[in-house]
Amino acid sequence: MTIPSRVKIVEVGPRDGLQNESNPVSVDEKIKLIELLCASGLSTIETGSFVSPRHVPQMADSAAVYAGLQKDNGVNYQVLVPNQRGYADAQAAGVSEIAVFAAVTETFSQKNIGCSVSESIKRFTDITATALQQGIKVRGYLSCVLGCPYEGEVNPAVVTALTQQLLNAGCYEVSLGDTIGIGTAGSTNALLQCMQQSSINPEQLAMHCHDTYGQALSNVLVALQHGVNTIDASVSGLGGCPFAPGASGNVATEDVIYMLNGLGIEHGVDLAKLMTAGNYISGVLKRDTQSSVARAIARKLT
Ligand code: HMG
Ligand code: MG
Repeated sequence: MTIPSRVKIVEVGPRDGLQNESNPVSVDEKIKLIELLCASGLSTIETGSFVSPRHVPQMADSAAVYAGLQKDNGVNYQVLVPNQRGYADAQAAGVSEIAVFAAVTETFSQKNIGCSVSESIKRFTDITATALQQGIKVRGYLSCVLGCPYEGEVNPAVVTALTQQLLNAGCYEVSLGDTIGIGTAGSTNALLQCMQQSSINPEQLAMHCHDTYGQALSNVLVALQHGVNTIDASVSGLGGCPFAPGASGNVATEDVIYMLNGLGIEHGVDLAKLMTAGNYISGVLKRDTQSSVARAIARKLT
């Protein structure tokens, strides 16, 4: 299969990146980060989540962040929604797009959103139906698609069936989460082959790789080779899931952009401006970037 000529990046740094941060980040700092990300040309940005502040205090200010953003018409701002309460809050905040998030394994589902996998599919099917009636687009996530921190290996056929259920529910795309970054080119290939055999359109899939084992970029490349043309990434490689202990950040957006440039794939993002956003948030967090590309370019400039 030929690789896509254009790829959409879903920037998850302000949500996946900051949900796991022990350093406080203010509403104004989050807004500035999102606006810098917009200025780099990113057209889809996850700005926060309407989850329980008891479970994820870092996202408790998501409504204030969303309200304070100078919205750019060309940009889709997404937020995560775990249940009906989160949906009601997101709708009241005026969002035009939400993401629901299920998992492949029972243990992760219970720890992450406090219900079984089948209950979550039922819950998200209902939320999606309501959202679509109210003109709100819905993206789906599936976590632990290449392995679970609690249950280990997962069966690609189970992942494929759950992906199909989220698509049937009305999600316009399903993001395949390697939550703990354990997948390899081999396991990514096996999963996407299974999806292909089940006639799932790769253009309705996204790849969401955490980089714990340093495999994220090669897994993204395998996804591109399967025709997946949406890639989730996090500026500076921020990220992690509070319910997946030890998992590191997402693949760095800067590293994905550099690879796409090398492949001649269009993406609409200005790498230098993206690095400005990465430098900004690294400064706020008082930490070096996790992006190899950003580090290498910074060394050349000094
Ligand atoms: P729960 O405690 O079981 O909720 O949490 P509950 O229904 O029993 O309610 C308890 C209290 O919480 C009630 O308040 C509710 O109103 C309140 P009280 O009556 O006691 O005052 N409550 C809420 N408040 C604000 N927003 C809400 C909400 N819901 C209930 N939405 C719940 C259940 C699902 C809410 C909780 O488990 C939760 O928030 N989970 C989210 C966990 C999360 O954010 N995980 C990280 C994101 S997923 C991820 O990172 C993976 C991904 O990146 C892909 C990948 O990498 O694989 C997407
Ligand atoms: Mg994630």
